[in-house]
Amino acid sequence: MSIIVDRHQTDFLYQQVAQLIRDMKQQGTLQAGQKLPSLRVMAANLAVSVPTIKQAYLELERQGLIEAKSKSGYFLKAMDLLAAKPKRRRMLNQPVAVQKQSLIEQVYDAIHRPGVVPFGIANPIAASPTVKALSRTMRRVMSMSGQSAINYGPMDGFAPLKKQLIYRYLDFGIGVNFDELIITNGAQEALAIALQCVAKPGDVIAIESPTYFGIIELIESLGLKALEIPICSEQGIWLDDLAKALEQHKIVAGVFSTSVNNPVGSFMPEANRAALVVLLESHEVVLIEDDVYGDLHFTEQRAKPAQYYSQKGLVITCSSFSKTAAPSYRIGWMIAGRFAKQALRLKRALSCSAPLLNQWTLSEFLASGDYDRNLVRLRQILRSNKERMIHQIQRHFPIETCISDPQGGCVIWIELPVGYDATRLFHEALEHNISITPGSIFSASDKYQRCLRMSYGLTWTLEIEQAIAQLGALLKTRR
Ligand SMILES: Cc1ncc(COP(=O)(O)O)c(C=O)c1O
Repeated sequence: MSIIVDRHQTDFLYQQVAQLIRDMKQQGTLQAGQKLPSLRVMAANLAVSVPTIKQAYLELERQGLIEAKSKSGYFLKAMDLLAAKPKRRRMLNQPVAVQKQSLIEQVYDAIHRPGVVPFGIANPIAASPTVKALSRTMRRVMSMSGQSAINYGPMDGFAPLKKQLIYRYLDFGIGVNFDELIITNGAQEALAIALQCVAKPGDVIAIESPTYFGIIELIESLGLKALEIPICSEQGIWLDDLAKALEQHKIVAGVFSTSVNNPVGSFMPEANRAALVVLLESHEVVLIEDDVYGDLHFTEQRAKPAQYYSQKGLVITCSSFSKTAAPSYRIGWMIAGRFAKQALRLKRALSCSAPLLNQWTLSEFLASGDYDRNLVRLRQILRSNKERMIHQIQRHFPIETCISDPQGGCVIWIELPVGYDATRLFHEALEHNISITPGSIFSASDKYQRCLRMSYGLTWTLEIEQAIAQLGALLKTRR
């Protein structure tokens, strides 16, 4: 065996060994049912200790990937970790005015209840907290800047942070002018400003179905209409459905996740991203790309933002540090391109500027390299959590449950068999102090009653496994 472990990585050696075995299974080097090398042979091959291998094997056993057979050793399980994926939905959608706020409010209440198991909140950094590094950095900023860091900041954002973001876009071959990039209060404000730059009440906005409920709320509060375009659980938006919708309706903009979708975790391939921009720009329709999960990919390469493919300047990119550093800092940004002047006016009218101390701290956090170091670790933990969660759901949920296989982010999309009701499960689970997100809030109409979203952006503990078993038990008693 020619695999190696690297003692300089931040991961523990046993985690690296476990990851190597997962990779070998995925690449087909190890086959289902195959016997793994003994602890001693594996330890000698990888030049690590026997207890390290033992710990890796125990971890994989806990995840349901391998099993110990008495007196024979460890074997790769025959069962495929990945369950059936949610199926393609054929939808004949019409633009609709949205009315979803009541259930969304109940979901927000649930996630902020003290002591709940937080499957309902998509907060990936809980899996690899940044709090120590950020507090250190913020203290340093306060002591070197004095009063300046708590003054009002510039409307368009703190220049050093803007420069760092512009520099990062250069890595994708995207040249951003300083004035085009505006720092906002999270991605949510960036999306709100983008929508107000291009649409007026009554206009039709194409959205993914299912999509992040914050987008649905925005559309509702701005008096717009939503036209749902179905997505594929692996590759994001179905482009042929979007093409048909563009022929049939007067759409002014599309709000789409161009990297990893929330709630399904699909990952739009490069070719589709390019084709999406060409398709929309050929109809003079603005693409508002939501890239908040871009840095949390499990794929080898991060998705190049769709902005890269724009020929006509009709792409507005929105993103934030909420999923990768600190959601409470409320720091996001937009590349507003040709809409920059209008966007800045709206930004000033809505919230003046974004918190300067938080921008300054994030700018230092990026400059120190701590941001990128934590990202590597965060992605690894999230990927491992995803596999654990899929395994536990397969163990405890009804047999015909379909589960998405996220290619990034921190959430999983589950479709229960016919006859089950996910909103009822949401209410019942809450009585047991477990929060989940019912599927219907990810649709502008009333779709996805049998679906739910669960977050694996958390620290994995026995309590988490018990909560999944509890959800399974609730499902078994009710149909
Ligand atoms: C897909 C998506 N877009 C936008 C947002 C809003 O991000 P922020 O917290 O930076 O406003 C979220 C937050 O959950 C999200 O999941």
